[in-house]
Order: sequence, then C-alpha cells, then structure tokens
Amino acid sequence: MALIGDSTDKAKQLLQAGKLVSIPTETVYGLAGNALNQKAVLSIFKAKNRPAFDPLIVHTHHINEIAHFAQLPSKWINELADAFWPGPLTLLLLKKKIIPDLVTSGLDTVAVRIPNHPLTLSLLKQLDFPLAAPSANPFGYVSPTNAQHVQDQLNDQVDYILDGGACGVGLESTILSLIEASPKILRLGGLSLESIEAVIGKVAVASHSSSSPAAPGMLKSHYAPKKSIVKIDEVNMKDFEDFSEIGAVVFQHTRKEIPNQNQIVLSPTGDVDAAAKEFFAAFRNLDERPEIKSIWVENAPNHGLGRAINDRIKRATAK
Ligand code: TXA
Ligand code: MG
Repeated sequence: MALIGDSTDKAKQLLQAGKLVSIPTETVYGLAGNALNQKAVLSIFKAKNRPAFDPLIVHTHHINEIAHFAQLPSKWINELADAFWPGPLTLLLLKKKIIPDLVTSGLDTVAVRIPNHPLTLSLLKQLDFPLAAPSANPFGYVSPTNAQHVQDQLNDQVDYILDGGACGVGLESTILSLIEASPKILRLGGLSLESIEAVIGKVAVASHSSSSPAAPGMLKSHYAPKKSIVKIDEVNMKDFEDFSEIGAVVFQHTRKEIPNQNQIVLSPTGDVDAAAKEFFAAFRNLDERPEIKSIWVENAPNHGLGRAINDRIKRATAK
C-alpha cells in the first residue's frame, strides 16, 4: 500500500530516484515524475493505463524556470502569469528540445502550469527538474481530490502520496493555448472563462472532438464513474416507480422523487465554486455505494466554474 505523508523530503528523494509521487494541487491530485527522465515519464503512462497519444502537463514553481523548456510568447504571457500563477491555469506553449517527446506525445507544444499549493510549490523549489503530472486517476475515471482517493485507485502504482488535504478548487486546470494567432481554451477548468477574458479580452473555446483531439482530455467520453450515468433532465420521472436504486448529484436542491439519503447537493447556497470543489467526490461517493445502481446528475448554472462542471457532466454522460 502506498505510504501517505506530508514529507517533501521523502517526495524529493523518490522523485530524484526516478520514482512516482502523487502531489497535491489546488485543482486535483497529480501523479508526478521527473519530466526530463524518460523512464519516469513512461512509468506515469503505465501506472495510469494512459494511451501514449495523451500528453502530460509539466509543472514548475516559477516563470523563469519555464524559459528552460518552452518558448515564452511575448504577447499575453506576462499578463496571464501575473494574474493567475500560481493557479489553475495551464498554458500551451512551443516546447524546447529538453522536454522528452514522450511527455508531449510527439507534439511540438508543451502544456505548462505553476500549481498553487504550498507543499507542492515547496517541493518544486527543491527540485532541479520540472514535474510531469497528469491527474492521479486511472485513465478515463474521475480525478482524485484528496490523498485517500489516490490510494484507493492507484495504490501500488505510486511510491508515495504527499498529503496536502482536500483540493481547494476541485476541477482540473483550464488549458489555454497560446500557440495560434489568438488564445483559445482547449479545456474548461478551475479558472473561469470570465476571469481570463477580464485580463486578455475575448477568447475562443474549442468544441469537443473525439476523433482528433487537440487535448485528449477533451475526448467526448471521459471523467466517467463506473456506474451508468444520465442527465436528470433527460429522464422521464413518470417512467419510474421505485427510486431506491437511483443516486443523484444535484446542484442546489434535492428532487422530491428520489430518497434524500441517495442525493448529494453540491452547493446548498447555489455557489458554483463550492459546487466544483465537491463535484468529483460526489461521483465517487455514489459510485462506491452498492445499493445505488445508476447515477443521475444535474447541470450547474452555465457561468464561472459552472461551465467546467457542465463540461465534465457532458463527457461523463457521453456514450
Ligand atoms: O489541474 C490539472 O491540470 C491537473 C493537475 C495535476 O495539474 N492535471 C491534469 O492532467 O488534469 P491530465 O493529464 O489529467 O490532463 C491534461 C490534459 C490532457 O487532456 C492532455 O491531453 C492535455 O492536457 N495536454 C497536455 N499536453 C498537451 C499538448 N501539448 N497539446 C494539447 N493538449 C495537451
Ligand atoms: Mg486527467
């Protein structure tokens, strides 16, 4: 069983030896390895059962470090970095040779982020290499938002879990591409579209593609629990008499038809940030309860992090 603890020293030693450590971030827990070490990177893909075509995000603690492994575009980068780093924003930049092709799945771009978590920032400062880290879940499953989630799912696949408590944001970072003439969001996430637009003006949001995804996290079907999952709005309540095996993830209010103990309210006050924080844990909870056979889920209001919640719901319910 993977050891859980809060020693950055231990994490550092293991990472320097090419091992994998799960790290806390404000978004979700990551499964980290030395981004410059091919063997470590390969073991990340293996541990997650992740296809080699799905590239990894590279994490570091300072924008000056990024210049070693990516080209910093002159436009937007300083404004974005000042406003949002450390934080739940990943930028897609042109990669430099030092980053192994394995990390970027052979693409000439690299996704980079400075995460906002005191333990992980302190760890990154102690290392002389950046960390490649996807979310610490088996490929296609919901992301972990506390150390126990990681242990439940990756257990023997990770050498140490650095416990930094529950993630404050709860959804993966927003991925913004700075590669093309104008910035484009490749994945909605923990930093709202509105916040980004307040700093750099209008940005486009890529629509999902399952055939040739620019960000395979954009695969249509992704982030799914194991049980069947449907949108509440697509269910005709009149078709059902017995709701005892139905679990529901609702935004603010419970549904009168479904037993109360089977429902998880994401935010009783209707706050999208609070809802984002609870979202993945709610799925896990219902997925683990044997009496529940099917999960029904309700969209959040479509603003702020509600957009990212609805994006994950869309993909979790995609056939
Ligand atoms: O919040 C997060 O972003 C978390 C924490 C651990 O930092 N990480 C995370 O990683 O969500 P992951 O691997 O689960 O999702 C990363 C997404 C994938 O969908 C991947 O395809 C995309 O980033 N990505 C990475 N490099 C890319 C590249 N060069 N071009 C396009 N998409 C890229
Ligand atoms: Mg992931």
